[in-house]
Amino acid sequence: MCGIVGVVGRNDATKIILTGLKRLEYRGYDSAGIYVAGKNNNLLKSTGPIKNLEAKLTPAITGTMGIGHTRWATHGKPTEENAHPHTSEKGELVLVHNGVIENYDELRQTYLSEDTFYGQTDTEIAVHLIAHFKNEGLQTKDAFKKALRLIEGSYAFALVDTQDDTTIYVAKNKSPLLIGLGDGFNVLCSDALAMLDQTSHFVELMDGEMVTLTATDAIIEDAAGQIINRDFYVAELDASDIEKGTYPYYMLKEIDEQPVVMRKIVQKYQNEDGSIAIDPNLLATLENSDRVYIVACGTSSHAGWAAKKFFETLTQLPVEIHLSSEFGYNMPLLSEKPFFIYLSQSGETADSRQVLVKTNELGYPSLTITNVAGSTLSREATYTLLLHAGPEIAVASTKAYTAQIAVMAVLAKALGTKKAILAANEFDLFHELGLIATAMETMINEKELLEELTAEYLTHTRNAFYIGRGNDYYVSMEAALKLKEISYIQAEGFAAGELKHGTIALIEDRTPVIGIITDAATGLHTRGNLQEVRSRGANTLVIATEELAKPDDQILLPTVHPLLTSLLAVVPTQLIAYFATLQRGYDVDKPRNLAKSVTVE
Ligand code: F6R
Repeated sequence: MCGIVGVVGRNDATKIILTGLKRLEYRGYDSAGIYVAGKNNNLLKSTGPIKNLEAKLTPAITGTMGIGHTRWATHGKPTEENAHPHTSEKGELVLVHNGVIENYDELRQTYLSEDTFYGQTDTEIAVHLIAHFKNEGLQTKDAFKKALRLIEGSYAFALVDTQDDTTIYVAKNKSPLLIGLGDGFNVLCSDALAMLDQTSHFVELMDGEMVTLTATDAIIEDAAGQIINRDFYVAELDASDIEKGTYPYYMLKEIDEQPVVMRKIVQKYQNEDGSIAIDPNLLATLENSDRVYIVACGTSSHAGWAAKKFFETLTQLPVEIHLSSEFGYNMPLLSEKPFFIYLSQSGETADSRQVLVKTNELGYPSLTITNVAGSTLSREATYTLLLHAGPEIAVASTKAYTAQIAVMAVLAKALGTKKAILAANEFDLFHELGLIATAMETMINEKELLEELTAEYLTHTRNAFYIGRGNDYYVSMEAALKLKEISYIQAEGFAAGELKHGTIALIEDRTPVIGIITDAATGLHTRGNLQEVRSRGANTLVIATEELAKPDDQILLPTVHPLLTSLLAVVPTQLIAYFATLQRGYDVDKPRNLAKSVTVE
């Protein structure tokens, strides 16, 4: 949700900023902009993706310091006026911002009633406010600090004074921001991915901190002005992890990576003696809890649903799944000893974070399961488990969903074994995950069939339904989200038995209805529901496990452990969404209106 980058102390500042912005495009691609200070100061903006901005950079602009921004619009439409960087009225200050300033209107009325604004963004108000204090006689840094004390909301800011090409002022509150340390230069970025080709040494910033960044120093101060000494960490990622290689889209690469991710999770969570490598304190805290609350958004909440049945079976601990955006402001009556699990690929989702802040205030223990070490949700929860899925760049989440389910299974197995629950003792999870990886490969090799079926069923439709029961219903929800978010086909995932209670009225001649059948206990009922819609004209397609399949079923899943079928059943649905999007001619990796990391509520 907006990406910012900056560099100071490099002759090729423009190139570094552009490369960084391209790597942050997953955070937003409505518009972009760059400011580079050098012999001539240059500020350029454009609507659309970074390549539009790049096209404007001829002749190339040069300089040793600069900042850049790729935008996902919150305040104001994605126009050039609203694109960042924003400047103060006289142009002496330049600012990029990720986040939302909540009291922008009040600030404008109190301090800036005489100012003229070109766009509608809260960021423009912030840079005018800093300039207002500078005009009162404060140095740039002190004016920035004074503005920060007044600004309410979330921000990652990078501020430049056009009279000084040696310093970038940086501040962070609730929005992600890292400093990267180079040899004779320094960088800033919303995500380490952006600067991995420049450095692997990064420094985390805490909320309320400000940094004075020069080519040789990164001086961190807390809100009270105290200097903070913080060590860097070495990013584990390799720059090659974020390349698309020969793939046309990241989404396809990430779907294909799922078997490798399953094996990596086994490798990372298995001790040499075969036992599970999970912090004993985490297990002890969970054992002492009476209910698990999984709090998440979108695909991650669907992963929570997919984990519910096996978690309860293996641990005998009740599990509730809640949407973060609902839970925080509408908290249900909690059990006596709740334990919170935050599922979040990015570890930055603002809706989830606001709940974590509240459960922390209430003193409840928590665990974040995330793909991003050092992310906000990871830092603020009591415990963290990593997904080890490698960077997920396509906006539509695929491998993070299956990794979240697999890591939840590792946790359930470890807890169930500790509690000596029979079902957990009998469950050879690491072996089963190995079988899942192989079965995923089989499905991934069915691309040709899936492409043909997608063309046959989804080419001429406005809407589509996925149906199933139990885990198959939960996969249906995820399958429908994937299809709608990238192909724009209006898709819904339904509990198969619920259709006849209202939604069946939407079935018309040739409406696609895709049934998922992996459970012997409910499979026949789902088949009955498919029959009901077929007799009303629906075009039905069945995804079934080999052992439950009927001769006419179109997509056959290899048989895997009944508790883990979601890990496999989702794979053909991801590919269906991918092909439906390609066939409609849309950008698979960058669907309209969306961004990968949703850092605003
Ligand atoms: C959909 C998708 C989103 C995210 C949701 C939560 O493909 O990726 O629904 O799952 O925005 O994001 P995280 O997991 O980063 O908290």
